[in-house]
Amino acid sequence: MEKPSTLFTGIFGAFILSCGAMVLLPNSQIGGLQPQVTWDEGQNSPSDVYPVKREDALGHRVGQGVFVENGCFYCHTQQVRDPQYGPDMERGWGVRRTVARDYIHEDVPLLGVSRLGPDLANFGSATWRNEPDDDTKKPAKRDAAWVFKHLYAPTTIVLDSNCPPYPYLFERKEVGEHPSPDAVEVNGNFQIVPTADARNLAAYLLSLDRTHELKEAPTVIKPKEAKK
Ligand code: HEC
Repeated sequence: MEKPSTLFTGIFGAFILSCGAMVLLPNSQIGGLQPQVTWDEGQNSPSDVYPVKREDALGHRVGQGVFVENGCFYCHTQQVRDPQYGPDMERGWGVRRTVARDYIHEDVPLLGVSRLGPDLANFGSATWRNEPDDDTKKPAKRDAAWVFKHLYAPTTIVLDSNCPPYPYLFERKEVGEHPSPDAVEVNGNFQIVPTADARNLAAYLLSLDRTHELKEAPTVIKPKEAKK
């Protein structure tokens, strides 16, 4: 009866060991993170730091849902790496690395699968760039109109874009008296306008801003003074 007990001890030991290394240890390190941070005097309050409103009146994370449904995370990460691991910050995707606390409100943190397109962790911040600062064809700060154009037909504004077009997030409507300010195309009596899904998605993308300083991740690149 010695062998079965050794086998049992081995299996049980391997289970305990992996449970400790992969569940208990990480939990002891980051399990106690709270969205509220104890701030020093003069620093932003927690509500300044987490202003994201990604929920509709029913409490649904609507824009994030559209992002997931359309598989945007297959090509877009939402994690900015430390300068020693990659040039994310040089590329303009963030001013500091992202840490566990950045995802504290996310049911499923959308860290991403692969990175075919730019990282979007800070897409809504005024510092986000994916091109040299002096590129006049790109806006200094992205807005909803830009996001709609890019969603509908990326190659009309980024000529060599590999980002897929999402025309089904738009609908063709009669123009009526005035074209909608959000119309991406007006053709005679008809205009192409974003659906509620596209609006929610744009609002979600523009809410992505993790540039506030955290104690465990100090700002590496100081945001340049806003251009007047
Ligand atoms: C097949 C991979 C792929 C998928 C899937 C994808 N993208 Fe992209 N995306 C890219 C690439 C590559 C770029 C860089 C070229 C460009 O800027 O268009 C990009 C660029 C972008 C940009 C930056 C545009 C700018 O302002 O410069 C945004 C925003 C974006 N994608 C949003 C989305 C959203 C939202 C979805 C899902 C609905 C999505 N992408 C799905 C590959 C992808």
